[in-house]
Amino acid sequence: MTEPADSRRGGTRTPRGFGIIGTGVISSIHARAIASLPDARLVAVTDVDHERANSFAAAHECAAEPDLDHLLARGDVDIVSVCVPSGLHAEVGIRATAAGKHLVVEKPLDVSLEAADRLIAAAGAAGVVMTVISQHRFDSGLIELRRLLDDGQLGRLVLGEASTKWYRSQAYYDSAGWRGTWALDGGSLMNQGIHYADLLLWCMGPVAEVTAMFSTQTHQVEVEDAALAMLRFASGAVGTVVASTAVFPGLPQRLEISGTRGTVVIEDGEIIRCELSAEGAEPGQLRSVTAGRSAPAGAAGSADLEIASHAAQIKDLIDAINEDRVPSVTAADGRAALEVVCAVYESARAGRTVRLPIPAGLLDDPAGSR
Ligand SMILES: NC(=O)c1ccc[n+]([C@@H]2O[C@H](COP(=O)([O-])OP(=O)(O)OC[C@H]3O[C@@H](n4cnc5c(N)ncnc54)[C@H](O)[C@@H]3O)[C@@H](O)[C@H]2O)c1
Repeated sequence: MTEPADSRRGGTRTPRGFGIIGTGVISSIHARAIASLPDARLVAVTDVDHERANSFAAAHECAAEPDLDHLLARGDVDIVSVCVPSGLHAEVGIRATAAGKHLVVEKPLDVSLEAADRLIAAAGAAGVVMTVISQHRFDSGLIELRRLLDDGQLGRLVLGEASTKWYRSQAYYDSAGWRGTWALDGGSLMNQGIHYADLLLWCMGPVAEVTAMFSTQTHQVEVEDAALAMLRFASGAVGTVVASTAVFPGLPQRLEISGTRGTVVIEDGEIIRCELSAEGAEPGQLRSVTAGRSAPAGAAGSADLEIASHAAQIKDLIDAINEDRVPSVTAADGRAALEVVCAVYESARAGRTVRLPIPAGLLDDPAGSR
């Protein structure tokens, strides 16, 4: 693990220098999250669209580099945020690891397991630290749910459901050439649903098998705009994942986790219902019923709330580098969520149940046209 020469001065650390690769929609959340952290400083950005990079750099008071090589050559960039289209994450990330940069990779890790594995291997060989964005793990409701699970308060888990029923217009898909393509984006589950799919796996543990179907109903795109899957977890519990960009006008993202001693329901990162069995009592006697929202993630204004979870994950990566530990959301976590998405697509295409782990090489082509 590399420690930049100037990272400690007089006992206090100087902020870690960040570079952002890709200055589109999500990059401003990264820039604002970095700006909110005393341990971080945005140094430079780059984008194949030079005008976009220049105006972004002006807005966020950093340098615009003409290309990736120039950004990666900067000694004052310790960590890069990979904010390019999803199917380019591995390609760009591998170049960054070769330059010794630590990585914040936007979700999904990539759109194929083969590419994701190449990136994970490259990061391991370079000895750099990588986290894959799953910012909702840092939402207040998820932090509380994780605590309840770690305390065993839900008992043995039996059923878990994750649902992302959103609406995206055709104009959204038409806004950039990579959107709605198998090669660079994936569909409603790969792009939008993967957030809550990851939360489901975080709560329920590894998936053993997937049975799924999908459809493309309201958009002119090659990918699915509705996906539905039944999961069997390695623990023996079962669950479902639903994702769509065709549900008008869109509903809150929802996670339901049920065990032998309790159920927690989360909507948009907040606990809206928590029912736990009384301590020492038989299931059926309720200890608490919470209907109403948990406190927000600790930030004051709505602008802070928008960036709070990204900021928390980026801070966790900086702490992991400084403390020589793995980050809270690892590359393996990002791979596990990607593997379930790939299994859903394979199951839907082949009309069969897919068992995990998926054998290496089986799903190398994200378009499924092998
Ligand atoms: N965590 C979240 O909530 C969240 C939200 C939105 C997007 N994302 C993810 O962020 C990524 C980007 O999505 P977006 O909506 O910002 O896309 P976008 O199209 O708005 O931005 C992507 C940018 O990358 C640039 N680019 C493309 N190829 C490049 C290359 N080789 N080198 C440098 N720049 C390059 C494009 O010119 C564009 O400006 C996707 O992987 C997406 O899944 C995550």
